Amino acid sequence: MPDDTALVLLAAGGGSRLAGLGPKPLVPLLGRRLVDYPLRAMDALLSGPLGGRGRVAVVVGHEGDRVAARAEGLGGLSAPPAVVRQERQDGTADALEAWARSGAAGGAGAAVVMGADAPLVGPGHLERLLRAFLEARADAALASFRPRDPSGYGRVVRGGGGGGGGGVRVVEERDADRETRRGGEANGGVYVFRTPFLREALPKVGSTNRAGERYITDLFPMAGRALALEFPDGDAFHGVNTPADLGRAQDLLRGRRAARLADGGVRLLDARSAFIDEDAEVGEGALLHPNVSVLGASRLGPGAVVEPGALLIDSAVGAGSTVRSGTRMEGASVGRETSVGPFAHLRPGTVVGDGCRVGNFVEVKNSTLKDGCKVSHLSYVGDAEVGRGANVGCGFITCNYDGRRKHRTVIGDRAFIGSDTQAVAPVRIGHGCYVASGSTINRSLADGDFAIARARQVVKPGMAARFLGRGGGGRGGETP
Ligand code: UD1
Ligand code: CA
Repeated sequence: MPDDTALVLLAAGGGSRLAGLGPKPLVPLLGRRLVDYPLRAMDALLSGPLGGRGRVAVVVGHEGDRVAARAEGLGGLSAPPAVVRQERQDGTADALEAWARSGAAGGAGAAVVMGADAPLVGPGHLERLLRAFLEARADAALASFRPRDPSGYGRVVRGGGGGGGGGVRVVEERDADRETRRGGEANGGVYVFRTPFLREALPKVGSTNRAGERYITDLFPMAGRALALEFPDGDAFHGVNTPADLGRAQDLLRGRRAARLADGGVRLLDARSAFIDEDAEVGEGALLHPNVSVLGASRLGPGAVVEPGALLIDSAVGAGSTVRSGTRMEGASVGRETSVGPFAHLRPGTVVGDGCRVGNFVEVKNSTLKDGCKVSHLSYVGDAEVGRGANVGCGFITCNYDGRRKHRTVIGDRAFIGSDTQAVAPVRIGHGCYVASGSTINRSLADGDFAIARARQVVKPGMAARFLGRGGGGRGGETP
């Protein structure tokens, strides 16, 4: 890419048809925001085969501070974009002019321009259009495509009257006559312009159209040489203007991801009900059952198995581990060859090691469970550390909260904790300790100690009949 090529993202519009979901560029989509997609595509173009030292600028207006903060703070980019303000949202030509008049445009020979609402556009599309523009020595180029339903898009009209020197025009849907609307070639909303041409032509773009806005597409008839490059993919430039468009964008992105995962050796038993966020990673050989959500920055290791109904948010599952049905994990990680669930709840700060077992109806919060330990049934482990190879029986509870503050419980390596034990924190149960079932432990144990803390059993021979109503005595009439 020539070093003087600028990349301009138009993200100032109000997005009124999506108003209920907040500012359009910030609408969530598969764990990202809408504006993230073109920012990443543009950044990838910079590091692609065309190379170059170009810089990305984002034009903001409506909710500009919030959109700018997202763009400037987005991780994983080679450099944060420059921010340009469009004072009033007078249309796409006006937004581009705000950039052309700003310092960000200084020295740019050409500009690759797109809107913030086309999340399927990738660096490959931008690159192809830029190459064609450079080869044709054009003033203006646009990407066109043939969507299944072109309504709502501007229609590309080639040759004929009003085509100017370029022979390419775009007529917006609302300004089009019936004949033009029948045309299936739609404007994809991705452009390349020669900057000196923009400086000359932008001030001449008026607003005499149905919307009363200044259209970027009105630049084409003014161009000496203009180009409309048709792309074969009918979904590539799918634009998001309405909630229905957003749903379709999500379906398309998920479909693409499912295909990429399949290529990477991942098995989705039901791709239609698997929700995998864009930034979530799934390792080779992983198996995902139906109705599984892997969200945020989650990572599934190679060969991991996730059973139906599991929800993973910003969580990691190591190689060969299994997350059984109905489990929820958030901000939690489990190591290799570990099993969690069914119906486990791993809350933020949970770190489970390798070869562990966290069984059904176990809740863990802000705790470390070291390699090889087991918490198999019906337990709450909060603010705790469970040692290597420790065995925590059924119904164990850390009493970690005294009504005001949280306290820690430490269980040593190879400790055996009998069923129905409570640890009243702060407390430490040393390495190799043995705690008898039904104990309430509120004093710490040294390594190797045995503890039993429960009321002594009382037995009254034959007295059961009094309670069961047999033999005429007791609290008669009670039936079991
Ligand atoms: C635009 C094109 C249309 C094309 C379609 C592709 C125009 C006039 N029409 O229509 O031909 O088929 O995209 O999806 O451009 N924006 C600003 N400032 C403004 C107005 C808009 O920054 O004053 C930004 C928006 O935030 C958005 C982009 O420009 O990211 C496109 O605007 P939008 O209103 O969505 O244009 P469309 O009607 O979809
Ligand atoms: Ca749009």
